[in-house]
Amino acid sequence: MSKTKCIGVLTSGGDSPGMNAAIRAVVRTALNKGIKAVGVKRGYDGLIHGDIVDMDVRSVADIMHRGGTVLHTGRSAEFMTLEGRERAVAAARIFEMDGLVVIGGDGSFKGARELSRMGLPTIGIPGTIDNDIGCTDYTIGFDTAINTALDAINKLRDTAASHERCSIIEVMGRNSGYIALHCGIAGGAEFIVIPEKPYKTEDITKAIIEGKNRGKAKYIIVVAEGMGGSVELAKTLEAQTGIESRATILGHIQRGGTPSAMDRVVASIMGAKAVELLADGKGNRIIALKDNKYVDYDIEEALKKKKSIDEYMFKLAKVLAI
Ligand code: F6P
Repeated sequence: MSKTKCIGVLTSGGDSPGMNAAIRAVVRTALNKGIKAVGVKRGYDGLIHGDIVDMDVRSVADIMHRGGTVLHTGRSAEFMTLEGRERAVAAARIFEMDGLVVIGGDGSFKGARELSRMGLPTIGIPGTIDNDIGCTDYTIGFDTAINTALDAINKLRDTAASHERCSIIEVMGRNSGYIALHCGIAGGAEFIVIPEKPYKTEDITKAIIEGKNRGKAKYIIVVAEGMGGSVELAKTLEAQTGIESRATILGHIQRGGTPSAMDRVVASIMGAKAVELLADGKGNRIIALKDNKYVDYDIEEALKKKKSIDEYMFKLAKVLAI
């Protein structure tokens, strides 16, 4: 019989499609084990201010197919202070929480590490569209986000083809190029601009001109937001190639929408695994998907891991853009 009697769950940082499926899995796995479940609203801010509600089986019905997070989310400045964190731990005690699941990104996991250090066992679940967390091959929301971006790229291809233009599409990803790399390959981009790979504007101009000489009549360039400057890039490319160029910044549209099957399945499994760890008396861990296996890491160790861009994929994109 587990000593864990009550588990809290919160979402933190940017929302991502699949967070609801993770919340549902945490709540239902806990209840199945006879553990009480509570939901913390608005991330760490809600924990500090005791904005905490009981979650029963029905409270998570009908949410799995919805984007965003029913618990709301945010980035808490107050939690960055020691006083804020002490208030958060005190609130968790008042609500008799003896474990917490935090669904979010690297920043949220630093908070989870602090809470564990202060005596509240906390487990992290990677939830961000960016897929930029070092310890895991996959983060919840990535698949849906790249498919949303791809849908937009498909539409922009039609217009680029009709007008024989160059379409520059800026996708999200913070400092990471993972969304751009995947969208670039799946969207047949002539060039992918990502923070991990230095480039010169002349490289893109060359790719466009060479493509034109091979008979191309439209051009797709995918730019990661970490590089930015898409509008300027469009002007420069138009001036250098003589081909009409337009920039589209996809923005937050990539964060919403119905989660894909993959995001729902990964979220369900990670949610369940997080509760199993807490029920076993473990804390200060992050659930990860590594080489197609679900594993967990000490948070300190996980935060030290760096994710590099897939060289093979980056080179392949160039080969296939011929
Ligand atoms: O981390 C997810 C993400 O969408 C990043 O890709 C982006 O840089 C950032 O969040 C945007 O944050 P905000 O929603 O605060 O504008």
